[in-house]
Amino acid sequence: MNYFTLDGLEVPFEEGDTLMSAARREGHYVPHLCWHPRLGQSGACRVCTVKVNGRLAAACTTRASADQMVENRTTELDAKRRLLLQMLFVEGNHFCPGCEKSGDCLLQATAYEMGMTGPRFEEFYPDRPLDASHPDTWIDFDRCILCKLCVRASTEIDHKNVFAIGGHGIDTHLVVDSPSGKLVDSRFSADDFAAGVCPVGAILPKRRGFVIPIHERRFDRAPVAEESWLENDASTRESTDDTGGHDEGA
Ligand code: SF4
Ligand code: FES
Repeated sequence: MNYFTLDGLEVPFEEGDTLMSAARREGHYVPHLCWHPRLGQSGACRVCTVKVNGRLAAACTTRASADQMVENRTTELDAKRRLLLQMLFVEGNHFCPGCEKSGDCLLQATAYEMGMTGPRFEEFYPDRPLDASHPDTWIDFDRCILCKLCVRASTEIDHKNVFAIGGHGIDTHLVVDSPSGKLVDSRFSADDFAAGVCPVGAILPKRRGFVIPIHERRFDRAPVAEESWLENDASTRESTDDTGGHDEGA
């Protein structure tokens, strides 16, 4: 068995592991937003940035090797992550008290874990129309953090290619692949893996609001760093069934 060092602890890894997959298998928390054990690598959010032998690298896309000394939860790296989160929060409309995903939101939970206590930059207040066309699921594009989890889930697991990322720069946005651009006219189904994979409140089921009360949700029960929510679940769908997505959405 090979090992690398994560914050001074030996972490075993197998051939083909990334730093993230090996660390998570051993129960170590590496902050992340766009990583999922069932989906391919993306490197979209950079919240998983660690230092490998002194150089910055994304833990979810960096192959593990035996000579690596990895720094993860340092004051410096958490400050960089906090900065990324502060930018994400003002880019979208993330009004936690009014969001059904509150308490089950990876963005919110990670911000708490990184010590973010409030906004740092001026809010953008985007105004992208909701898509409530589908009978079972709605999309609030203003909450999308462009993590591409739904894109990859729809492609890699559902084999439907319902979602894509379009535009450039500040106009980058989630796109629904259908003749009208509406979810109802796409091949999307509420049973799709992509329906339950959104880490924030951008893709939510209808008619499920507050099935799990505030203060009893996933990250109300345990901070994200102490939770093995992905490893313990066969899929994120099961995790959202338990806490928020499918059983208590909008
Ligand atoms: Fe990620 Fe959700 Fe946006 Fe899809 S809708 S890219 S899962 S934040
Ligand atoms: Fe690694 Fe998003 S979790 S870049």
